[in-house]
Amino acid sequence: MSQPVDKQAIPVSPEINVYNDPRESFDAQVRFAQKWSEITGDDFAATLYSKTPLYTRISEPTPRTEDVPEDWRTLIAGLDKDSDPKEVTDYLYELYKKNPESKYTPPTHDSAIGFDYLPTKQAVKIHFTNPSRGERPLSDENMPQRQAEFRTMLEHIKALYPEAALVISGTWLRSTSHYRNLSPPDVAPERNLMSPDMKMTGNSVWGQFTNASGNINKRVYDQFIAAIEKATTVEELLDAFPYKTMLSEDSIDKYYDFYGINGESATASSPERSSETRVRDVQTGDLASLKPILEQWIKRFGSDEPLTEEISNVLAAVKASLEGENGRKYVVAEDDQGNVIGIMGMTTPSNDMQPYITSDNAVEFINAYVDKEARGTGAGKLLAKQLEEMAIQDGHTEIIVNSGPRYKDTGWAFWTKMYGEPVAMQKDLYGPGADAPVWRKSLPT
Ligand SMILES: CC(C)(COP(=O)(O)OP(=O)(O)OC[C@H]1O[C@@H](n2cnc3c(N)ncnc32)[C@H](O)[C@@H]1OP(=O)(O)O)[C@@H](O)C(=O)NCCC(=O)NCCS
Repeated sequence: MSQPVDKQAIPVSPEINVYNDPRESFDAQVRFAQKWSEITGDDFAATLYSKTPLYTRISEPTPRTEDVPEDWRTLIAGLDKDSDPKEVTDYLYELYKKNPESKYTPPTHDSAIGFDYLPTKQAVKIHFTNPSRGERPLSDENMPQRQAEFRTMLEHIKALYPEAALVISGTWLRSTSHYRNLSPPDVAPERNLMSPDMKMTGNSVWGQFTNASGNINKRVYDQFIAAIEKATTVEELLDAFPYKTMLSEDSIDKYYDFYGINGESATASSPERSSETRVRDVQTGDLASLKPILEQWIKRFGSDEPLTEEISNVLAAVKASLEGENGRKYVVAEDDQGNVIGIMGMTTPSNDMQPYITSDNAVEFINAYVDKEARGTGAGKLLAKQLEEMAIQDGHTEIIVNSGPRYKDTGWAFWTKMYGEPVAMQKDLYGPGADAPVWRKSLPT
């Protein structure tokens, strides 16, 4: 365990939101409710009440009722599915800011993991809260701490509720591999809870919009807004959430075994990732750092001469992706000093890759480059894993990737390590005699 910290003494940096929720998450909820009303014909005030946490955020903490409370109808009077969403959000966010409960106060406990005991089901229900705003609670560096907390919690449960038989966890976080890493790998298959009659009034659905600093998770927001704009059915609306709320319900003994609480040695371990490297979405400011990395690798085959035009094209494609112009997505790896050390992207598969695609929503990985100095430290793998996760969230069904002769001594072994033996050798892909192996990987749907 880390040293006890006096959380109240930590100054809140300007980047940290002073409210619990960012304004944009209200905007996402308003737009969602408007679209829901439009599609279903349901009353707007009722939809906002039952499909978002807004009522709870704005009112005194009162238990939710089946019927829409009159005070809510009065507040919402005059606003409907056709109102300007910005006006509705501004109005509701101002009310929210007046609620003293809306101000963020750091938790007084150090542990991210807590539970409720449900005696009738002999089950423990797991909760997760970020104990330290401004820090990523599920980063590689923090995972050993989270695992220690999970173990301590299980020890308490075993002592206090020896009859406990089940562990229940239902949250959008279960759509992320880091969070799932806290559960045993053989935990029962998860159930997708996103259905038209689901309860959508809490963080188990909407928490994905808030990042570790309490600000908007821009990637989630942008993807969500684009998808709800296109939605024409309730199913498509529910599918707009980048992270689905998943339920896992399994025997507590599996957890005791995994954390070594039944007397056996623990099998939980840190995810196999380099602790110093982290991967994030590319930003405009990264372009300058990426150029020298590309210059190390994008060279005429058999010579030391950088191919300036190809390098400029890659940088232009990265820039266009940031402006949403080419549908590509890029992630970069950075070291513990914040230096960019690698990049990888994904895009719609090229025509050349069509013969190797076996499902209807493939994505192609492209532009994989890691700084020479940082090669072999796990950055390439982290980049690929992050893109895989994003591809799954985007509904892709498989990954396809090829690598030209230029990368025979570097990329080929890497992709084989990642995705097994190539499925094919594409003849002359990069010119006469320049064949390229092709790898593929199916993604879970
Ligand atoms: C290919 C590249 C992106 C891989 O990045 P990296 O950070 O060096 O790779 P990692 O350290 O994450 O390696 C992941 C795994 O692949 C293995 N691997 C990577 N390169 C390898 C190689 N040349 N030979 C054998 N194994 C290799 C690693 O040993 C590691 O295995 P492990 O999981 O058992 O530890 C990087 O080497 C690079 O930029 N190469 C030049 C450009 C290139 O070839 N790009 C591919 C174009 S398609």
